[in-house]
Amino acid sequence: NARIVVLISGSGSNLQTILDHANDGKIDGDVVGVISNRSEAFGLERAAESGVPTKVLDHTMFSSRDDYDESLAGLIDSFEPDVIVLAGFMRILTPEFVRRFSGKMINIHPSLLPKYTGLHTHRRAIEAGDDVHGCSVHFVTEELDGGPVILQAKVPIFEDDTEQLLQDRILEQEHRIFPLTVQWLASGRVKLVDGTAEMDGERLPQDGYA
Ligand code: GAR
Repeated sequence: NARIVVLISGSGSNLQTILDHANDGKIDGDVVGVISNRSEAFGLERAAESGVPTKVLDHTMFSSRDDYDESLAGLIDSFEPDVIVLAGFMRILTPEFVRRFSGKMINIHPSLLPKYTGLHTHRRAIEAGDDVHGCSVHFVTEELDGGPVILQAKVPIFEDDTEQLLQDRILEQEHRIFPLTVQWLASGRVKLVDGTAEMDGERLPQDGYA
């Protein structure tokens, strides 16, 4: 079974679905640790509830991003993980950190990448007048929100939509596609090969809406 470490900053609803899928045997892996950069993240309680060890590494206690990321990398390594999952971990990562975990680290982002990297994706999609929005799971590479996509899901944007309604609609899809991709990585079906995401040896489409 793969050893999975999940990094969070907040509610941890995605962490919860991963814990549930692992506990139900739907992921060939165990969540062996949860790390948060914020001590008040509700996801820490979710992890504790499932008996998973938690660590807080508070970024405000560090004077530089390099120092923080070096400590974070050491903490991650202490769990000897095969898979590292960024589940609402709201930090920009240094290239050195990202390289260290290349091919092992995935992120979920609330947009149809490559559209809307960064923050406030739901508001930006509404303001742009888009009629679809969505979420993407991708390998983490040095380019912010720019790594190869593994799986995406899309949802409609309605005329009278609000940021909150859209966020909820997308979270539902996040909870569907994230545990699935964690399983694909944990079981070795999905790999990062020469900078390309492959599944069962085939290059994955970069607009692979589920
Ligand atoms: C999710 O919507 C995730 O896509 C987003 O944060 C939320 C975390 O929710 N991630 C990013 O914006 C990364 N840049 P959760 O804590 O309930 O899983």
